[in-house]
Amino acid sequence: MKKNWNLPDLKTARIRTKENTLIEHSLFEIPEEARNMGSGKKYFLRTYGCQANERDGETIAGILEEMGYTATPTWEDADVVLMNTCAVREGAEQKVFGEVGQMKHIKKARPDMIIAVCGCMAQEEAVVNRIITTYRQVDLVFGTHNIYRLPKLLYETYRTKKRTIEVFSKQGEVIENLPARRVGTHKAYVNIMYGCDKFCTYCIVPYTRGKERSRLKEDIMQEVNELIKDGYKEITLLGQNVNAYGKDLGYADGFANLLEEVAKTGIPRLRFVTSHPWDFTQSMIDVIAKYPNIMKYIHLPVQAGSDEVLRRMGRRYTIAEYKELFDRIKKAIPDCAFTSDIIVGFPNETEEQFQKTLEIVDYCKYDLAYTFIYSKRAGTPAALMEDTVDRSVKEEHLQQLIARVAKYANEKNQSYVGKTEWVLVDGPSKKNSDVYSGYTETQHLVNFRIKEGTKAGDLVQVKILEAKSFTLDGEQI
Ligand code: SAH
Ligand code: SF4
Ligand code: F3S
Repeated sequence: MKKNWNLPDLKTARIRTKENTLIEHSLFEIPEEARNMGSGKKYFLRTYGCQANERDGETIAGILEEMGYTATPTWEDADVVLMNTCAVREGAEQKVFGEVGQMKHIKKARPDMIIAVCGCMAQEEAVVNRIITTYRQVDLVFGTHNIYRLPKLLYETYRTKKRTIEVFSKQGEVIENLPARRVGTHKAYVNIMYGCDKFCTYCIVPYTRGKERSRLKEDIMQEVNELIKDGYKEITLLGQNVNAYGKDLGYADGFANLLEEVAKTGIPRLRFVTSHPWDFTQSMIDVIAKYPNIMKYIHLPVQAGSDEVLRRMGRRYTIAEYKELFDRIKKAIPDCAFTSDIIVGFPNETEEQFQKTLEIVDYCKYDLAYTFIYSKRAGTPAALMEDTVDRSVKEEHLQQLIARVAKYANEKNQSYVGKTEWVLVDGPSKKNSDVYSGYTETQHLVNFRIKEGTKAGDLVQVKILEAKSFTLDGEQI
């Protein structure tokens, strides 16, 4: 009965072989019968998680629009609802289950509506089992490796009126020539690689996203050049660990060379995320320092301040090595802004080890840091580690860490007061449409009064008048 289902399998997802990356330029197609399926119909897409997932959301939207669907901002009136999910922490998953739960009664009233769950949660065995047993309103589950098959999967679900589950747990290939409906009109994400082979012991991403695999440089450059032609002002190159770009294709100094080639196109603003502190090469630093259109902003997640915890996390560097890299970048690029990701409450993290995390925050004085309580992910090595630390201790540590991070974020923001900064205008700010917002080169958010005629996508100079804890206020000059 359930023979056609393809269920996820975390054990297979962990396998890595030395096989070459397969680059597919012609796998995506919309079958004849599915071509007009969406005509007169609406889709609702909600995306959680990192920029990689946001970029996948743009692909999903692009595919649906090629099938004739139009977007709707509310799921109540949608013909197809897609939840593009994140599996990195339990909280993100609970939210999705809550929302899918709420859709039950609408599905009852409108049985023709199709509810789909995709993204990283779909790659997890436990999640898919839970959907099978308790979330009967879900019609379609597909994973991160088979987005290109969405037209076929959607058509089959619609035609058979039966549940379709298709998740591949494999190393993965690179699928080119997918459509995209981009969210931004002047800022764009460009994938340069997929997957992750770092296997940090707490992290589910290497299982949900497969092997590290790079796109060909010519395919990336083609996308970049099209974006420039379409008037985009800022490009962010995406990878779970961009330092590894091109290694699977045999490129030497892959990321530094790619970054340089993209910078040479003259795109006004170039960014990249995420760079792992391990294997951050001198040639990368040199390229960032050399080109004014590469933004002086580096997201350099430290995760923890104790060598013992870093070792158990499988992070491949010591705090001394992290500091040495940090200092070397600072010396080469004095105005560089740094942000970080930090986890508290890793299994059995002691008080003393947590203090070391505060110490590295004191040392780096990050412009901002994203802080998390460790969340146990089934299938990862850390999930098997014994943990005797009380939840209340972890919460207390998180509060201390948030306060310390806020102190430096505020100090950094104060240092901008009186200065004039280049800002890329995003548009009217969310809270007050008389005020516009945008980001500095160093990725600080600014709310400011514009001069007449200024519009989204303009690069303007803004005098910073005041600093709030996490934002700046100013006026265009
Ligand atoms: N590839 C990127 C981002 C990975 S996910 C990187 O390595 O930096 C983003 C952040 O989520 C991580 O940096 C980490 O701080 C956090 N994270 C990942 N797994 C987690 C877990 N199990 N519990 C809590 N935080 C986690
Ligand atoms: Fe996860 Fe580590 Fe890979 Fe980042 S580098 S995605 S934290 S395994
Ligand atoms: Fe989440 Fe998947 Fe990104 S787990 S952080 S959406 S790679």
